[in-house]
Amino acid sequence: MMKALGYYSSASKEFEENELEEIIETSAHNNKVLDVTGMLMYADGCFFQIIEGPACELDTLYEKIKHDHRHKGIITVIDEEVENRSFPDWSMGGLRLDPDILDQKEVFELTRMALADKLPDTAPQKVKIFMKSFYNASVRDIEV
Ligand SMILES: Cc1cc2nc3c(=O)[nH]c(=O)nc-3n(C[C@H](O)[C@H](O)[C@H](O)COP(=O)(O)O)c2cc1C
Repeated sequence: MMKALGYYSSASKEFEENELEEIIETSAHNNKVLDVTGMLMYADGCFFQIIEGPACELDTLYEKIKHDHRHKGIITVIDEEVENRSFPDWSMGGLRLDPDILDQKEVFELTRMALADKLPDTAPQKVKIFMKSFYNASVRDIEV
């Protein structure tokens, strides 16, 4: 059985670009081994992450993530069985929603793709809604 988990959390401190990259790199490496895919968004001290994959691996990974002291106040908003992945190509895609770096093409492209209408049609509606609202709350005034 495959499932998806999504949560919001607060960073224990303001994250620097390289610290975020480090999490994403470690995650991409570990997740590949576990057949887990997903997306991590960071904006203004808040995280929103979606992880998806085999239920057993996912639950174990989530326990590990929940105990990571780099964030706190974890609120699970998605925990459900899914038939298809929303991010089949990303072992862990990362987005830093920061108006100052949105002019960098790569980040910008990734941001566009993360928006609801760029996700696969089969992505659960909840995934689209939570991602879109996190995005809108973070960079409402940026046109994409
Ligand atoms: C916001 C956040 C998201 C994370 N997401 C993942 C993830 O998707 N996969 C992962 O393996 N580790 C993730 N981690 C890191 C884990 O908590 C843990 O530090 C890491 O898996 C340990 O890897 P290691 O055993 O290879 O050192 C995340 C950490 C934070 C703070």
